[in-house]
Parts: sequence; C-alpha cells; structure tokens
Amino acid sequence: MLKKDANWWRQAAIYQIYPRSFKDSDGDGLGDIKGITQGAKYLKSLSLDAVWLSPFFPSALADGGYDVADYRNVDPRLGTLKDFDAMLKALHAEGIRVFVDIVPNHSSDQHEWFQAALAAKPGSKERNRYIFRDGRGKNGELPPNDFVSHFAPSAWTRSKNPDGSAGQWYFHMFAPEQPDFNWDNREVQLDFLKTLKFWSVRGVDGFRIDVAHALKKDFTRFNKSYTKMDSMKIKADGSDILFDRDEVHKIYREWRKLFNQYNPPRVAVAEAYVPASRRTQYASPDELGQAFNFDLLQTPFSSKEYKRIVTENIELASESGSSSTWVLNNHDVVRTVTKFGLPNGTDLNQWLLSDGKSIKVDLALGEKRARAAAMFIMALPGCSYMYQGEELGLFEVADLRPEDMQDPNWSRNVVLKKERVFFKKQGKMITGLAEIHLEKGRDGCRVPLPWRPSGPSFGFGAGKAHLPQPREYGPLSVQSQSNVKGSTLDIYRTALKLRKKLQTTEEFEWIKTGDPQVLHLSRKNGWHCIMNFDGADFTLPQGEVLHSSSPLKGRKLPKNTTVWLKA
Ligand code: GLC
Repeated sequence: MLKKDANWWRQAAIYQIYPRSFKDSDGDGLGDIKGITQGAKYLKSLSLDAVWLSPFFPSALADGGYDVADYRNVDPRLGTLKDFDAMLKALHAEGIRVFVDIVPNHSSDQHEWFQAALAAKPGSKERNRYIFRDGRGKNGELPPNDFVSHFAPSAWTRSKNPDGSAGQWYFHMFAPEQPDFNWDNREVQLDFLKTLKFWSVRGVDGFRIDVAHALKKDFTRFNKSYTKMDSMKIKADGSDILFDRDEVHKIYREWRKLFNQYNPPRVAVAEAYVPASRRTQYASPDELGQAFNFDLLQTPFSSKEYKRIVTENIELASESGSSSTWVLNNHDVVRTVTKFGLPNGTDLNQWLLSDGKSIKVDLALGEKRARAAAMFIMALPGCSYMYQGEELGLFEVADLRPEDMQDPNWSRNVVLKKERVFFKKQGKMITGLAEIHLEKGRDGCRVPLPWRPSGPSFGFGAGKAHLPQPREYGPLSVQSQSNVKGSTLDIYRTALKLRKKLQTTEEFEWIKTGDPQVLHLSRKNGWHCIMNFDGADFTLPQGEVLHSSSPLKGRKLPKNTTVWLKA
C-alpha cells in the first residue's frame, strides 16, 4: 500500500511505459490499459516506486500519441476510463504510483477546439486558442515567417476555410497535426488546470510535462527570422523567441498551487531541453518540483563526462531544493545497448539510416556497458528513470521497413534529390527525383516488449504487433530471462530491490581511485558503487560485494562493469 509521504519521489525508481508497446490484452496489435493491469505483478517484481505512462489519450497518432485529441479521456483502442481506474487501483495495490504525461504545448488537429478554430473566422475567440496568422505575399500564399518545425520544413501550415478556399496559417512546432496552443490565452490556461485536476482527483500521483519549456512565445517577435540553427543554440537568459522564456514559470507556479491541494501533493517532472543552469527553475519546489536531466542520455560512455555531469547536476539539484534525475533511455532516443555497442562518437542517425549496416554493432559489449551504466545511476542520490525494455537489454531495431515506420521524424524529414538510376524496362539510365529521408526516427526503440520466447508477437499479444519485433527479441523475453542468474532482467531486479533498501539520505562523495577510468562513489550508509569504464582490472577495496552488473574476476573489477559494496 502507498504511504502518504510527501517526499516519496525524491529518490524513486520510475519506469516509463509506452502504452501502445507494453502489453496488448485484446490481440489488436496495440498495447492497452488492461495490458498494463496484467503487467502489475511484473512491475512489482522490479521494486518500482512509480510508472510514467506516455500518452494513452484519444489521438490520431500523428506523433505516437503526443498529438492529443482529448486530454481527459482514454483512446478507445486502448480502453476506457473505467479500465484506467482499475489499472490505477491494481498498481497502487502493488505499491506503485502512476504518472500521466501532459502535453500542453500543442494538441492534435483533431481536438474539438482546433476543429472549432478552423470552422471559425480569423480573429475569433476559437482561433485565439491557437496561433493563427495571415500569410505574406499577394494572396497570403507565403507563411508568416521562416520558423521551422521539428518534423516538417515549416512551422506553419495554411488552413482551409470552411468553403474550401485557402485561409490563414497556423503555427506548429512539431507536425502540422500538432497545432500549438496560445498560452497567453486564459481559457487555455484554465483548461489545463481542469485537466490536471481531473487526473489528480482520479488518484494519479504525478505528471510528466511534455516540452515544458516551449509554452510561452514572444509574439511581438513573430515577424523575425528564426531558423533551425537558432533553435539549437538557445541562450541561457530567457530571451529566446520560442523556448525557455521566463514567463513560462508563472504557469508552473499556478500548477504547483493546484498540486499542493492534494495529500500527498502531486508531483511533476519537466521535459525541458534547456541548459543545466536553467533547469533548476522548472524543478524548484514552487514549480514542477523536478526536471529531467538528459545530460547522461546525450553522453557517450566516458568516465570523465559521467563524473562531470553527476557532480554538476547534484549541485544544481540541491540549489533548486529538488533531487536530481538520471535517465539513460526513453522513447525518443536510441537504446543504450545499441548506443554503447557502437564506437563513441558514432552519428546514430546516420547509422540508423543505413539500417544499422554502416558499422557493425557489438551488442554483447553494449549490453555489458548498458547494465554497468544503469547500476551506476541507480546508486546516485535522486530519481532513477528507466524505459520499458531496458531491463530486458533490448536493442534498437535499426532495420524496420519503411512501410512499418510510424514516426513523423521519418516520414516528414524528406528532401527530393535528382538521381540517375538504371531503368530495366527502358534499358537505360533515367534521371528522376528520389525521396531522401534525413532522419530515421524513433520507432526502433518503441518496438513492443517480448514477454515469451515464442508465439505471435512473443507474448506481447495474441496478434501481430503494431511494429514488428525482430527474431532476436524472443530470447530476451521476460519469461526467458526470469530466474536466470546473470540475465539482464535478473541484474536489474536484484539491483532495484537492493536500491530500495539502500537509498537513505541524499549525501554522496567521490572517492579517489587513482585510475581516471574508474569512478567510485560512496553514500553515507556505507554503500559504495564503483564503475570501471575502460580501465585495467581494478582491485576492489575492502567491503562485502552486494551486486555487480557482470561477473567479477575474484576481487577485481573488469572494465565495463559496476559493483556495489557494503563497507
Ligand atoms: C516530446 C516527446 C516526443 C514528442 C514531442 C512532441 O519531446 O517526448 O516523443 O514527439 O515531445 O510532443
């Protein structure tokens, strides 16, 4: 049962569920809410404090559910609100809390407000919930400015008037099916408070806030130029046109007042890709309380970088009054087993675009390193986040066929290039236009979980999975690894169980090792964690070995391995 502890989240182990790929209870190929309920015992076996569910709301799936058509409902393909309540109850009964993903920057173009905006006139109250502008050019045929979107060349799409004629343009930071809200509009602000209340009253324990740094925009500068390059170098002073503006914090201070009306207060974590020094404000106790630290997720396997990042983030977290968060995987990035199995510095997108053929990946090495890194972050003060399948050592599926891919990153980042190809029929070279994809996308880390070594979709469901699983996922299934000593699942289960007992106060210190490839940290209660990145076998100091990410050589710690000791 859950304790009414207001600080439960400070050092929690939190598991991200991507609902459409977790477990399919009805055989339609899509994971669903009842599937999560069925997985409750499994989640319990991982000694988790909480799970975070990526969006399960009604959606046209233009961006894996991050295009929400109704914030206060469940996608009928995934279940009903009743199913949601039953799931919440089942997880709570196992002592696991639940986070819901809130997507406040944009809705789906299928949202009733957006549909109403399209049907209404320029300047209307309905249009003012979004960001509509007249186009440039003689007949408004040019977009209002050069803003670029993450998934399409332009951040503007021209709308159609109800009579079919071309109308105003609307702004979307992501796909055209994801129109951005106008957060200067009080009606939008109030509606999100209603949504947060709706889920809090149902008993949801926390929220993950999607692109939390993008809500406020400087509309007075919407006539200025802003290229993709600009979005890559946001200044750390709150002055950017689109991202991390100071005014955004007013929104979260209002949300905090709502969160604190519950017992225990609802918690929240910001997804904000901002410089480390700017993260603290999102994480402060009078705002969201926590913010994702993505520094490790963006870093190669390097002792120097890990040490720098940990030191910096622990200092920053204590400045803000929050605890730090540690993340190695999520639904947006290449899985660690693959990333660490490739040479440091590999351009992962280019590698994916080659279907994983340009460089041979060493999965055995990647798995070893991924486990070692996971046990390292679990020993740090703060929250350990993990992403479904990480505990099974799943690798990135790099060779999905174009017809199977769903991510707009793949389908929308396309350029046309003139190419000469030999046409068999005509028996000659012909010049034509070929589509060149610039991004492979994120489907490779969203392939459904294998639960059993064989059968349709490896026990994910009774039918074909919505993204095909590779043959090699069978031996990595939950059933194949359960009770197998030394399997990745076994290493995770043991580590998470121990972690729950060992996490006490948030102090920690670095201990000198004499080898720059070996990091040693200790916690106040005599818990030591030593990680050998790429050094020679390292002789362990005194202490009882509690657990290791891979076998030790007697009292020696080989490279790519982490050990926990009790001194
Ligand atoms: C966040 C999500 C990502 C999504 C984007 C737009 O970054 O993690 O999956 O595509 O927001 O909502």
